[in-house]
Amino acid sequence: MSYIKLNTRFLGDGLEQQTAALQKSAQEHLQRLNDKSCVGSEWIGWYNYPKTRGFEQEENIRQFVQNLDVTYDLVLVIGIGGSYLGTRAVTEALLHTYQGTLRDNRPMIAFAGHHVSETQLVEVLELLDKKQPVVNVISKSGTTTEPAVVFRVVRDYMEKRFGKEESARRIICTTDAKEGALRQVADQEGYASFVIPDDIGGRFSVLTPVGLVPLALLKLDTRALMEGADRLFSELGQEQEHPALRYASARLAAYEQGKRIEILASSNPKVSHIIEWWKQLYGESEGKQGKGLFPAGLTYTTDLHSLGQYVQDGVRNVLETFLSFEQDVPRRNGVEQRIRVPVQASKLDQLNYLEGRFLGEVNRAAMQGTMMAHFDGGVPCLGLTVPELSEHGIGALFAFFEVGCAISAAMLGVNPYDQPGVEAYKKNLFALLGKPGTEALGARLRERL
Ligand code: PA5
Repeated sequence: MSYIKLNTRFLGDGLEQQTAALQKSAQEHLQRLNDKSCVGSEWIGWYNYPKTRGFEQEENIRQFVQNLDVTYDLVLVIGIGGSYLGTRAVTEALLHTYQGTLRDNRPMIAFAGHHVSETQLVEVLELLDKKQPVVNVISKSGTTTEPAVVFRVVRDYMEKRFGKEESARRIICTTDAKEGALRQVADQEGYASFVIPDDIGGRFSVLTPVGLVPLALLKLDTRALMEGADRLFSELGQEQEHPALRYASARLAAYEQGKRIEILASSNPKVSHIIEWWKQLYGESEGKQGKGLFPAGLTYTTDLHSLGQYVQDGVRNVLETFLSFEQDVPRRNGVEQRIRVPVQASKLDQLNYLEGRFLGEVNRAAMQGTMMAHFDGGVPCLGLTVPELSEHGIGALFAFFEVGCAISAAMLGVNPYDQPGVEAYKKNLFALLGKPGTEALGARLRERL
């Protein structure tokens, strides 16, 4: 029995049948992943990674964290795209939203280098000032502008505050084995460093040191994350009709019937960065050659009061996938924390019928009611259920979506592992900033402004 369940009951008859008809093709593409004959096979190191290298790597990283000879209460991750979204997905889901205000012995996390807005970087620097930070700068290429520029700023801050020697103990680099400026800086400055494997691209790299180093620094259970992913990869060999393959087939079936947007919706705001991670994975892997479902994310019930109207009643080009975690009740010292609607003497708010019931029940009913309303309004819906919101559950979900993405892109006829479209903005950015060698383009762009 597969760990993650996919409910296709609300796809509608036509789409359900088409999904079933595509299953054979999905299985053939899985076979190509297995025998490494798929498009982009030089990039499929993520597939079965826990067994091939991940478990060993995870153990090394845990050892490294145990032996770290600095005290810290803040982990600053500098990275963009696949170099930070997975870590953000796990930490937002599993750490306390207000971790920085708690008096426990777990550090808090902050992110930088995923934009170049001065406004927010000023705040990050203010936070650093109040904390004892370690910095993990992550860039596979080692040359991406946003994290590179921000790392310069943060490195300057660290060296002024701690001096060169202590900074070197507080800065950890995760980058390519040989290529890129970050590798050279790490080697030259004597920073501890971890390698992002050559055969794994950014958006497929969450289970490598890209995610493992910061998550281990935060004392999260990286072993369980890896076990969850391994469980999912192992299931693929055992189950012909695996939900990850059916998910890929349903997406293509919806696309072929004219759907152009897939909304991934959840009713738990702590999951919103899992959705952000998913958006990058599917958007960058599939959106090419004029093809692909546009991945959008919504958090309910919040967004029912903003975009719900559109989903219910706007252009009928949407497929919606409802993501839920069966067990997502937080625990403190092993005790479940639940909230009931209180009994009140005054009945003016007309909520008597809810008295004594858990808020989780209200949330679940809202999700079920929304799915059926959207389906009745002409939106085919999928239900994706993960047993628990934990490292294990999220690890399995990462692997589920990675496999689903690789198969879905292959069925769509695109290479999931390249991103030629990302280069266009970079060329213009360099030219506008006057990078040597880009003068002619810079002049043409400035004329247009
Ligand atoms: O998936 C990808 O390859 C990209 O989104 C990268 O993760 C992102 O551009 C960051 O690249 P880098 O890690 O080289 O700085």
